[in-house]
Amino acid sequence: MNESREEKLKGLPKQSPEEQLEAKFQGIKKLCDLFSTSAKPIGSGYSGLVVDMGDGTITKFFRFNFCDNEQRQILNEACLLEAFNGRVGEFRTPLLTSEPVILPIDHPLRRYGVAVGYLSMQKMEGSTLEWGQLSRTLTKEEWKEHLYQIGVLVASIHEATKNVHFDFSAELRSFPIYAAWIKDLEMRKIIDMCNEWFEKNQKCGFVHGDVVGRNIISVNSGRRIDGILDFSLSGIYSNQHFDFREINQEWVAPVVAGYESISGEKLELSLIEMSQLKRLAEVTQELSECLSKDKGKRQEEERQLENWKSIFEKRLKSLANDLALQ
Ligand SMILES: Nc1ncnc2c1ncn2[C@@H]1O[C@H](COP(=O)(O)OP(=O)(O)OP(=O)(O)O)[C@@H](O)[C@H]1O
Ligand SMILES: [Mg+2]
Repeated sequence: MNESREEKLKGLPKQSPEEQLEAKFQGIKKLCDLFSTSAKPIGSGYSGLVVDMGDGTITKFFRFNFCDNEQRQILNEACLLEAFNGRVGEFRTPLLTSEPVILPIDHPLRRYGVAVGYLSMQKMEGSTLEWGQLSRTLTKEEWKEHLYQIGVLVASIHEATKNVHFDFSAELRSFPIYAAWIKDLEMRKIIDMCNEWFEKNQKCGFVHGDVVGRNIISVNSGRRIDGILDFSLSGIYSNQHFDFREINQEWVAPVVAGYESISGEKLELSLIEMSQLKRLAEVTQELSECLSKDKGKRQEEERQLENWKSIFEKRLKSLANDLALQ
């Protein structure tokens, strides 16, 4: 009997994410001579591959992706790191160690779809964070202080970029709430009204674009924030409050206090809520599109989906109430 590919794979020992990353890196190493024997892959995120070159520098490769202009992303991140020159407010940013590279069209890394180009920067001391875990391991007071510092950090980025001129990112990105899973007509109507309100009240401005634990560097496990990385999604956005989209609803207050202590301006809480609702709508959509085949796991995911949907609905209605849209 012929075994299907899936059955064959079932019999093989599963590779851990670290092993998968290492295997991918071994393949890439064969394509070019950029890496010494001490080079190690340390991440494989949205942009592509991040390699610790073993000499105090990090090389971040940007792969071809279908949604964004990756060459522009490389130049955008390089341009910002250069403008910051190692610092935003009291926080460190990586220093560029050489000019960004856009690979020639016939370069093996490009031909095999591995990378379009890369940038090299100083390796920052410390480690990145995972907010879910941190919120459980820090004491209540330490966690609140961490959140306050997140607010200070975001405000420092927004302040520092007021005088930076962006050739590469002066693109307005609009973020109305929309997701295909929302079929209920009443909900759709409320969303349309929220989006209309958003059009009139949006605050356009510079956005880091990915303020999350894994882009934040700390030398003492999150008690103090030392630096911030990953400016590949940064730019001018229609909603500057987008930078709070990953902050859980119950964490918002100390973050806002930290932000306002630096900016001196009041944040519009409804715009923060809109960014978070948009994010919730997106993750709900993503999960509903990739439910597990395994029955047990699938049931668990379906429960999660129902939970998110009902939280979304509740929060949306309460937002509409606050905006007196109902
Ligand atoms: N300059 C640096 N110093 C130390 N570590 C770094 C540096 N740059 C990147 N890293 C590590 O590599 C990881 C991925 O880098 P980065 O966030 O820039 O890439 P990404 O592809 O956008 O990843 P993701 O989509 O996961 O955010 C970081 O979370 C961090 O652990
Ligand atoms: Mg990142």
